[in-house]
Amino acid sequence: MKNLLSMEHLTTEEINRILHRAQAFENGETSSLSRAYNVANLFFEPSTRTKTSFEMAERKVGCTVIPFDASFSSVTKGETLYDTVKTLEMIGMDAVVIRAKEDEYYNELLEGINVAVINAGDGAGQHPSQSLLDLYTIKKEFGSFEGLNITIAGDISHSRVAKSNASALQRLGANVHFLCPEEWAGDFKSHHSWDDLIEISDVIMLLRVQHERHKVNKSFSKESYHEEYGLTVEREKKMKDTAIIMHPAPVNRDVEVASELVECERSRIFDQVRNGVYTRMAIIETILQGRE
Ligand code: CP
Repeated sequence: MKNLLSMEHLTTEEINRILHRAQAFENGETSSLSRAYNVANLFFEPSTRTKTSFEMAERKVGCTVIPFDASFSSVTKGETLYDTVKTLEMIGMDAVVIRAKEDEYYNELLEGINVAVINAGDGAGQHPSQSLLDLYTIKKEFGSFEGLNITIAGDISHSRVAKSNASALQRLGANVHFLCPEEWAGDFKSHHSWDDLIEISDVIMLLRVQHERHKVNKSFSKESYHEEYGLTVEREKKMKDTAIIMHPAPVNRDVEVASELVECERSRIFDQVRNGVYTRMAIIETILQGRE
């Protein structure tokens, strides 16, 4: 594994190896990297979790984190992403973690760049580190993915989390269901009501409505959306005893999920954040080991 670009680029064996290593880190193992690699985090879109979690993970595996502030970088003066990354390579970076608003921005980096590229989210494309931490959270809960019913509900067509998780979960043996308004279904065969899903789901994964990616901003009622597509307090009562609630966050409380469910017993929303550090430690170690 030289880069982490999308879940489609990972074999099932590579996914399982990262999950196994994440568990080892959670159990207290330390990094096996032989030196302090230099890493920079280039975030051209807002982020709380992913940026901070990568930085924590990088420090925990012994990397030197070189500060990079996208809003004060020369990209604002017209420099291309390629020239920016090549510049960081010449300065001595071994890996860059990038979030950008363009789908598959990384294609322009595959030729001529020798630092490792870790995709921290490309437009409405993929979010592989989020997917891997979601897989880790589900694996910890259920032990395996085989036969699980996983409902992904929300703004499916604009969601990089939905796309990253859908194929990976199916590949690992889960039954993945989608729930959203018709106009957000995209290429996914989706349900438009909770009726067939609420009682059978082992995992309910809620997604934020991504207004910033909507080309046409139609009027949107938070209350109506919550009633129709959100996980309400009433719906939660119909979930299986063993079922869990997930959300990549940031959460819009009382829109996709009732505020009082965010930290309820079956919610794993903040556990996902903690699991993200172990998973990203595994990702960084695996990729940098590939360079040793
Ligand atoms: N889940 C996620 O990507 O969150 P941030 O946008 O805060 O990084």
